[in-house]
Amino acid sequence: MSQDNIKFAYWVPNVSGGLVVSNIEQRTSWDFEYNKKLAQIAEKSGFDYALSQIRFTAGYGAEFQHESVSFSHGLLAATTKLKVIAAILPGPWDPALAAKQIATIDHLTGGGRVAVNVVSGWFKGEFLAIGQTWLEHDERYRRSEEFIRALKGIWSQDSYTASGDFYRFHHYSLRPKPLKQPEVFQGGSSRAARDMASRVSDWYFTNGNTVEGIKAQVDDIRAKAAANNHSVKVGVNAFVIARETEEEARAVLAEIIAQANPEAVNAFGHEVKQAGKASPEGEGNWAKSTFEDLVQYNDGFKTNLIGTPRQIAERIIALKAVGVDLILTGFLHFQEEVAYFGEHVLPLVRELEADQVALAA
Ligand SMILES: Cc1cc2nc3c(=O)[nH]c(=O)nc-3n(C[C@H](O)[C@H](O)[C@H](O)COP(=O)(O)O)c2cc1C
Repeated sequence: MSQDNIKFAYWVPNVSGGLVVSNIEQRTSWDFEYNKKLAQIAEKSGFDYALSQIRFTAGYGAEFQHESVSFSHGLLAATTKLKVIAAILPGPWDPALAAKQIATIDHLTGGGRVAVNVVSGWFKGEFLAIGQTWLEHDERYRRSEEFIRALKGIWSQDSYTASGDFYRFHHYSLRPKPLKQPEVFQGGSSRAARDMASRVSDWYFTNGNTVEGIKAQVDDIRAKAAANNHSVKVGVNAFVIARETEEEARAVLAEIIAQANPEAVNAFGHEVKQAGKASPEGEGNWAKSTFEDLVQYNDGFKTNLIGTPRQIAERIIALKAVGVDLILTGFLHFQEEVAYFGEHVLPLVRELEADQVALAA
């Protein structure tokens, strides 16, 4: 097991409707003031990263969305330690613009705190609404890989030159370069996504899953990355419901699902068929998701971080044991529950990690 502490991120609710497609009461808001306070609570509570979301259009309770790069900059300016991951979608974004924007944010925020999550797109309606060409599943990943190679090339080299199928550069020197090379995350877990991660990404983000399901992905990626002489870390999504008793936590989950909005969940389920299921292997995110899974739009219930702080901490250690480096968390009432997680779950995780290190010594 890794000797490094497992890292924690939270989903930035820069999209309306919270992280579950349910009519249950959610004291979570998508506005900036709420998010600014949340980021400050999160960094005080021991969270390492915040992950913003990019959507240009959406229903499913997510009618309103703030843009991810400018929102991330706002959160970085309001905090001092937290790293913020700006979601970027190739197609609407061009790598030259993204590289320049992120380099400037890196300077404005002291260096080393801004990162990117290159997402490849699952929502055809969104692409068509903004006049973007919709590519087939694996073509989207070919484009994302060129995009990531371009970001890294522009950030690290002078006279960067590349001639790809999607992007071309001729002796381009970005000035100034970022103070520190921003980390590159990716979202997606199909075979094309895993192959891309094993070649170019620093981090691979995947939807919620069982420990066995995660292990299969980690083993595949690590083996492929080793063959490519590349190293990649893994982050897993989880919707956390931490309560004093397991019964209480399970009751909250039951209520979220009982109050799910079936029309919205089914419409979302229909749209995501353009993702994992549309890959040649029919694997990847949402390929096997049930109605209940889709109530949390990145399968976060499957990871089962639902119960008492101790149960949750032990399950996090089990994920770490199969090679997970980061837990990406979502909550019903973000501000209160991020603080609760920092106070009651995170210290237990650190204790268990210290026990493991002592055992190994
Ligand atoms: C943690 C995580 C965050 C994501 N964030 C976004 C996002 O902000 N916007 C977006 O359009 N897609 C987002 N995605 C979707 C992915 O980019 C990808 O399209 C989707 O997971 C399907 O990938 P697959 O077919 O390779 O499994 C995210 C995925 C994950 C796992």
